[in-house]
Amino acid sequence: MALTLTIRAPDDAHLHLRDGTSLMYTVAASAKSFKRAVVMPNLVPPITCVDTAHAYRERIQQACPPSSSFTPLMTLYLTDQTTPEIIDAAAASKHILAIKLYPAGATTNAHAGVTRLDLLMPVLERMAEHQLPLLMHGEVTDPDVDIFDREAVFIERVLQPLRQAIPELPLVMEHITTADAVAFCQAQAGRFAATVTPHHLIYQRNDMLVGGIRPHLYCLPILKRRVDQDALVRAVISGDPRFFLGTDSAPHARHSKESACGCAGVFNAPVAMEVYTHVFEEHNALDRLENFCSRYAAEFYQLPCNTDTLTLVREPWIVPGQMDYGNQDTLIPMLAGQQLNWKVHHG
Ligand code: NCD
Ligand code: ZN
Repeated sequence: MALTLTIRAPDDAHLHLRDGTSLMYTVAASAKSFKRAVVMPNLVPPITCVDTAHAYRERIQQACPPSSSFTPLMTLYLTDQTTPEIIDAAAASKHILAIKLYPAGATTNAHAGVTRLDLLMPVLERMAEHQLPLLMHGEVTDPDVDIFDREAVFIERVLQPLRQAIPELPLVMEHITTADAVAFCQAQAGRFAATVTPHHLIYQRNDMLVGGIRPHLYCLPILKRRVDQDALVRAVISGDPRFFLGTDSAPHARHSKESACGCAGVFNAPVAMEVYTHVFEEHNALDRLENFCSRYAAEFYQLPCNTDTLTLVREPWIVPGQMDYGNQDTLIPMLAGQQLNWKVHHG
């Protein structure tokens, strides 16, 4: 009989679902593995107020497969125009969990992001009063800063001063990629956490760039060095509750990835739970998988843990080479055409 592993149903603390007809495909892919997901607001135009977040939430729920009870947890996009009143309204909504900071221009659909965080202090202070977390895309956009250094420089120039100015503001450093970020996170007390993606656990920049450029591994923050990858793996398998699962699954149609100027984002939802399980197994840490996937994010966000379960089976399978994205577009999932040893068991 195949080996199976049953854990409390996981939450994805960082997910891009897009909108419109895409939702049919993206929601189905995540709902197979995840019970809840913190949904990123970087649509065009971005989700900047409670009403648009509620309407987006309804569109996501309408796209849920009939048999699933997938729950989207919504976020608002912080802009130069965000006001303390918008924060009050967000804090009063039971569907809005956090506010997302994109430094202007930092990543996909970040042109509406923040140009000067120091001008938003009243907004951030109001968030701290409500204990409404700020989720950070932790990269500076200064053209003089090398793309591989942008996370470390963000910690120094933005995060440390913010932490000092408003220590009680709950913070999540999203999709961390460096040993610097791991060390910074480990040194924090209080409501401070970081999400870690499956791709940053199994890849480093050589995987993207040596022997040919692999556009489907291009994401932001960009893959870093082997030492960074190792630090991320050690952090997640250590059982430290400050590190939890966030896939950053970010679908882009194949043609916009395989392009002279390809989009940033890895579509990993169809394989994310399998990859995390593989990583924990490889490091003899399967007993810590459940907390990373299904407990620490809930605790950080002060939500009850899920009560149902997810079963993984140790059974080799080949990841599809491509998947439908509607409108004759296709998506290339992470690990397309490759073998995985764990598989999420569906019903
Ligand atoms: C994300 C996207 O495509 O929306 N892309 C990515 O490379 N991760 C945005 C983001 O989280 O940076
Ligand atoms: Zn993201």
